[in-house]
Amino acid sequence: MSKRYKDLVAAAISAKELAYAPYSKFRVGAAILAKDGRISTGCNIESSSYGLTICAERTAIFKAYSEGIREFTAIAVVSDDPEFTPPCGACRQVLIDLAGDMDFVMANAKNKLKVLRLKSLLPLAFTSKNLNRIR
Ligand code: THU
Repeated sequence: MSKRYKDLVAAAISAKELAYAPYSKFRVGAAILAKDGRISTGCNIESSSYGLTICAERTAIFKAYSEGIREFTAIAVVSDDPEFTPPCGACRQVLIDLAGDMDFVMANAKNKLKVLRLKSLLPLAFTSKNLNRIR
């Protein structure tokens, strides 16, 4: 596995330390890699009104967007689960909308990496292309 992805996973692991997950106790960290090499990190942040919680993946991409970063090549996600942590449905949609297809890198507790294309995680995605056809 490329050193770039090992570095990306290391950034996600550090981000996980800042997770605010008092309700689920499930800490998640994410790190998204921009085309120009910049890395933006994020963690999950929970609300007492559970549905308002934001996942690590969305925190990371929203942080990147808020700094003007628009093009990405990969995102890495880690949790304390010994198995790989796949993204929730809401994050799949937001990531496809804001990043398009890219590598989705998962790391397990033994630091073994699994890389999938985001598109394969959300087949037949609804995107801006669907909206634009009726205009
Ligand atoms: N969570 C993430 O941050 N990313 C995922 O890919 C899966 C779920 C968070 C949301 C919530 O704070 C906790 O994990 C349990 O669902």
